[in-house]
Amino acid sequence: MWMKNTWQVAAFASEIKREILARRLCNEPVILWRTQAGRVVAMEDRCPHRRAPLSVATLHGDEVRCGYHGMGFDADGKCVHVPGQDSVPGNALVRVYPIVERYNLIWIWLGDAALSDPALVPDVHWMDDPKWIPSNGYHHIKANYRLVTDNLLDLSHETYVHKETIGNGAVADSPVQVKLDRGRIIRAHREMPDIEPPPFFAHVLKHWGKIDRWQIAIYMPPGMHMTEAGVYPVGTPREKAYLIRALHLLTPETEHSTHYFWGNCRNFRLDEPEVTESIRKGIQHTFDEDKFIVELQAARLREEGDPAVPMATIKVDAAPIQGRRLLASLLEKEQQDPTFIAPPLLMADDSVVNYPPVAA
Ligand code: FES
Ligand SMILES: [Fe+2]
Repeated sequence: MWMKNTWQVAAFASEIKREILARRLCNEPVILWRTQAGRVVAMEDRCPHRRAPLSVATLHGDEVRCGYHGMGFDADGKCVHVPGQDSVPGNALVRVYPIVERYNLIWIWLGDAALSDPALVPDVHWMDDPKWIPSNGYHHIKANYRLVTDNLLDLSHETYVHKETIGNGAVADSPVQVKLDRGRIIRAHREMPDIEPPPFFAHVLKHWGKIDRWQIAIYMPPGMHMTEAGVYPVGTPREKAYLIRALHLLTPETEHSTHYFWGNCRNFRLDEPEVTESIRKGIQHTFDEDKFIVELQAARLREEGDPAVPMATIKVDAAPIQGRRLLASLLEKEQQDPTFIAPPLLMADDSVVNYPPVAA
């Protein structure tokens, strides 16, 4: 089950070219392509003639020509060409989805098109802001998106899953403060003063001495996550911290698989493309580790009929539990009222470089 009246990421903008890309989104088969003028079009991957997938169609100018009997459809989904006849059937229409291209991402609205409003695209400006540089990537995860959300809201797993990259004992050992912000966002905040730097941070900061670190896992349902990580050598003022705002943008593919688009945005060493690439590689490896454990967990849960988790609750479950509760309440509202929309909020305010430290 998923929310529909919301903008979700369908692709990175760079993926959509003058050819047809097929992608399943919230279990709907969709094709994406660019018109000659550069506008992105999303259509259902289904010909209204005999249901052949349009993912094997070809593009002729701005016309999608079905690969079975050659009927042609324009960027509004209207049939404009039927081989061997002059007229076109009026009911030969392909559904077209609202699209916004913003922040180097393609956002799709799978719900009621009349409710789609480009102002409702979540603000992830860090992905294309000159003050930040993203290292981008994608993972396909064979698990329900809620399991990925659980993973991103409980970062104590860094100590065990990512011990060679971003985690060390300090993560699991530090207390977390969980807060529901304005009824729309979950924040799980952890302070880690005076710790040994995990390997990834030592390498990126070129600093092997002790650091102060904070980390906030931020979740805005249905699929927007951001992990804010602040790190600075012990003794440096907090305002001078290096910041990483890691965006994790989840779009369900099916009930049992998830598109995971990510952008690890940093506010330091901006002019060093080799840092962008080295962070990309490091994060790729880190998220491979998440994929490995979450897919194993999902497969085991499926074998057992997808029981509710956690079965035994521990302290670190607070944020994932609150996250699921918030998601469930929004899903319920959308089901009761098909015009319900949960407007997005800004996940982190750039004018506030650091958040007040959490009292122990
Ligand atoms: S199925 Fe597409 S034209 Fe016949
Ligand atoms: Fe992880």
